[in-house]
Amino acid sequence: MKSIHWGIVGLGNIAHKFASDLVLVPNCILQAVASSDSSRALEFSKKFKSKNYYFNYTDLFSDPSVDVVYIASLHPFHKSHSIEAIKQGKAVLCEKPLGMNKGEVMQMIKTAKDKNIFLMEALWTRFNPAFEQVNKWINDNKIGPVRYINASFSFNAQDRGVDSRVFNPKKGGGSLLDIGIYPLFLAYHFLGFPQDLKASAVLTKEKVDEQLGFIFSYNRAQAMLYSSFSHDEDMRATICGENGEIYMESKWHNTSNVKLVIDKKEIKKSFNFLGAGYTYEIEEVNNCIRKNKLESSKWNWKNSLDIAILMDNIRKKVGIIYNSDVN
Ligand SMILES: NC(=O)c1ccc[n+]([C@@H]2O[C@H](COP(=O)([O-])OP(=O)(O)OC[C@H]3O[C@@H](n4cnc5c(N)ncnc54)[C@H](OP(=O)(O)O)[C@@H]3O)[C@@H](O)[C@H]2O)c1
Repeated sequence: MKSIHWGIVGLGNIAHKFASDLVLVPNCILQAVASSDSSRALEFSKKFKSKNYYFNYTDLFSDPSVDVVYIASLHPFHKSHSIEAIKQGKAVLCEKPLGMNKGEVMQMIKTAKDKNIFLMEALWTRFNPAFEQVNKWINDNKIGPVRYINASFSFNAQDRGVDSRVFNPKKGGGSLLDIGIYPLFLAYHFLGFPQDLKASAVLTKEKVDEQLGFIFSYNRAQAMLYSSFSHDEDMRATICGENGEIYMESKWHNTSNVKLVIDKKEIKKSFNFLGAGYTYEIEEVNNCIRKNKLESSKWNWKNSLDIAILMDNIRKKVGIIYNSDVN
């Protein structure tokens, strides 16, 4: 089987977790890493044994030995970094959210299409085994038509300063783009694009969402969704159909434990994860590249664009505007 050679740019928090998983995936090589900070690049390269390291992203994008780049920079840089990589002929797995808004996502998709290059948003939950089990139960019609979804994602980030990436609007701060995207994804995946949506937020002084509640309405279903940086919570997700319920246990976006309840009888399933759970999206990317696919059939370009449109609509309702919306 052809080995896939990966590069990683933006060597922060998530890049470390991702690299720890990447080295567990068979036929997968950490070829190169790049950071704007030279000591970070050197340390990271040493820790994860990358073949090459660079002190700027452009050098990594032009390294002919790299097949695919994982973009782990802050949200406002996803578009420019992904487009630069694609233009150098690199396949791209870009952290969520793919872009800051619909316009950015459209530009990224257009570039990938024009250059005939693979591009995927790193919505890792979609590829996790427990999520796949839930997907199967629903596709097998175990719970009948889905009528209600309840999902949230919160963590207490009150000790992080206003300049942190979670609160600073210039760094794409706000709960929706960072973690609200997960409950949004769950409703979108199982119920589709909503007919109507409502939203209410607690905004910070800098006008980003510290707490956000949103409701997606469908003909015969509703999804109650929430994200927050104000408090911790156990984060279970509930999916109710006319004939049964599914519970994704804490923390649902990366859970190993899911439960199907029909007529008060419970079927529980637990999964042993390889690594922290990023291995599954990595395998998906490797397989797509081996098959010369431009997009994943499990999380495709239209899915990412729909998510961006929904986040734009929610932000409009509660008054969150980023520089990328006006420039
Ligand atoms: N899938 C997941 O589970 C998950 C979890 C957390 C985050 N994420 C996503 O991953 C992305 C990065 O999050 P993170 O928590 O890893 O962030 P982080 O550790 O704060 O920063 C990541 C990298 O961004 C660059 N960076 C930081 N501050 C910058 C600034 N002021 N200007 C320009 N570049 C800057 C740095 O790259 P250099 O090393 O090149 O300097 C840094 O290493 C976000 O888009 C987030 O949504 C995903």
